[in-house]
Amino acid sequence: MIDLERAEKVFEDYSNNYDRNNLMMERKIEHTYRVKDNSNIIARSLNLIEEETNLATLIGLLHDIGRFEQQRLAHGYNDLKTGIDHAKMGVKVLFDDKKILDFLPDTRKYDKIIQIAIENHNKFKIEENLSEEEIKFCKIIRDADKLDILEIFVTNSEDIEAIGKNNGYALSKDITEEFLDALFRGKQIDRKYQNYFLDWYLNTLTFLFDINYPKSFEIIKNKKYVDGTLDRIENLVPEDKEIFEKIRAYMNKYVTDRL
Ligand SMILES: [Fe+2]
Repeated sequence: MIDLERAEKVFEDYSNNYDRNNLMMERKIEHTYRVKDNSNIIARSLNLIEEETNLATLIGLLHDIGRFEQQRLAHGYNDLKTGIDHAKMGVKVLFDDKKILDFLPDTRKYDKIIQIAIENHNKFKIEENLSEEEIKFCKIIRDADKLDILEIFVTNSEDIEAIGKNNGYALSKDITEEFLDALFRGKQIDRKYQNYFLDWYLNTLTFLFDINYPKSFEIIKNKKYVDGTLDRIENLVPEDKEIFEKIRAYMNKYVTDRL
């Protein structure tokens, strides 16, 4: 049986082993709790049975557990720059180091699905040849995670420049052409084709092209994530206002079309 209360207590204890005075670390912990709640909201919108809803919620709680070791070992959160895939690191912590036994002591039947969902949560695409059940949990965590990344961009706007810098992107008005082309074709583009601060920042909006569930689009619309994301960047890089307005019109139509 999945005991979410226990799992949350174990997560708190695990977090306390790391430097919680580090602001970036604390933000990742807050992100985790919001993703857990998003996962629960999406799962409930799908009318899953209680145990499945709890499983989706547990995956939300565990999805970024690799961030702690990533920060400890490489002092950063950019997977490319630290050379650590934080999803793979999470799988290592839970299943190679057997931390999963603390979170879920007496149920092994969910191990495979938890592993697959965590491993796929940060990938460009969900891996091939998964079962329908596995794909469902991958989609829930991917939606839940993306919703909170949008939330962070909109609500923590004063720190966007600092967050960009922390991810290795210094503020500038440049945008990679291939990135913009992909955006206006409704396609996500791999991080490796992104060179500039604005590629990194606007990439968050292209997450919408990979959102799966109506509940997620409803949240995106109600919380005005498209407008919020673009309003802040317009103030920060006023030179590119015209491009931002084109993106705003395109993205808002994309969301409305999916409601
Ligand atoms: Fe993550």
